[in-house]
Amino acid sequence: MQTSRVQLALNVDDLEEAVEFYTKLFDTEPAKRRPGYANFAVVDPPLKLVLLENQGAGGTLNHLGVEVASSDEVEAHEARLVGAGLVADEEKDTTCCFARQNKFWVTGPDGERWEHYVVLADSETFGISSSASGPGARVCCAAAQSSSAAEQETQMDDTTSIRDAVRRRYAAAAIEARAASSGAVSCCGPSAFGACGPTGQGAFGAALYGEDEGAAAPGAVAASLGCGVPTAVADLHPGEVVLDLGSGAGADVLIAARRVQPGGRAIGLDMTPEMLELARSNAASAGVDNVEFVEGYLEEIPLPDATVDVVISNCVINLAADKHVVLREAARVLRRGGRFAVSDVIADPGMDAETRADMAKWTGCIAGALTDDAYRTALADAGFEHIEIIETHRVHAHAAAAVIRAQRSATPSSR
Ligand SMILES: C[S@@+](CC[C@H](N)C(=O)[O-])C[C@H]1O[C@@H](n2cnc3c(N)ncnc32)[C@H](O)[C@@H]1O
Repeated sequence: MQTSRVQLALNVDDLEEAVEFYTKLFDTEPAKRRPGYANFAVVDPPLKLVLLENQGAGGTLNHLGVEVASSDEVEAHEARLVGAGLVADEEKDTTCCFARQNKFWVTGPDGERWEHYVVLADSETFGISSSASGPGARVCCAAAQSSSAAEQETQMDDTTSIRDAVRRRYAAAAIEARAASSGAVSCCGPSAFGACGPTGQGAFGAALYGEDEGAAAPGAVAASLGCGVPTAVADLHPGEVVLDLGSGAGADVLIAARRVQPGGRAIGLDMTPEMLELARSNAASAGVDNVEFVEGYLEEIPLPDATVDVVISNCVINLAADKHVVLREAARVLRRGGRFAVSDVIADPGMDAETRADMAKWTGCIAGALTDDAYRTALADAGFEHIEIIETHRVHAHAAAAVIRAQRSATPSSR
């Protein structure tokens, strides 16, 4: 009896034509036909062939998969792959390709998406209706859309799935940090996710902070997952409003809050509730009260325009799917002339796909870091000037931590 088979999902320009071709190729009639969609359950060789009508994208790969016979098998594959260091994006009881499914996704080094899935039941709709919300509401496979709509969907899907993967990773890190009475969280992620990159423990985390900074926020610094100390280069002054993008356990927010007293305040923005809880508890222990921790995304900062004097961040922007959106948001919330002073990972130029995948394992840069040139361009496009990028230390054979500073253009005309 057939227990599992590889799935190949192709985009086709003309569904009728493609069905005719593949019926001949595999000497098999389609198992399912719906508007814009067909699939073939080919017995020999064992293959689930899916055709998605996506005009303009015909002949390209939509995604790949492995169809299995039960939810237990989906879970077993997920456990195996997560154990092997891959990041799984889980979708339970979702509707995709006219079927209710349990599944998870992993992404290959060139961005190719692989799902492991089981079909639970037939569905009358292609995906979950667009009015639904939550992760399962993403319309799968982007069938029967115009190519520009499909591209937008893919971009949104990338952002959402990368954020989900990053959030799971840092929720686990926060829980581990809280549990560890010694504060012994390994760098760039909890120990459960593996050790640091080749350059060792000094490349990330608490080891980068000086004694004074450690004393200012002991618990938070111990749980730091950063690759620098942005407050050391941000030149903070009393009375300023500082925003930390991806504040994690709160170390840089607490250090900044002390520096901007009296009259100033520091805001930490993070999307992971477990991290926000940890940061608030660290703030209470440190006795710092001119701080606020806000839940939200770097890509949609929940603050009004021009309300911040300084944006800091520590090893977070590299995690975002679209750094351009993040930098534009940073520029939007900064007052004119406001400062951007972050630590981040910079990729060496000319990195190949294999190295990029390897770096993801070492540094947690799931979405990949920008090169020096690309960072400068993205900052300038977002409206920054006086851009300065200084490498501080290597975090990988092909990537370095860097201090990145820039200034929001002071005049509207220079933007
Ligand atoms: C590498 S940790 C760094 C935390 C902190 N800056 C530090 O130095 O310890 C990344 C943090 O950024 C948050 N984060 C990552 N991507 C984010 C996004 N797109 N929006 C909001 N927070 C994000 C994660 O939840 C996590 O707390």
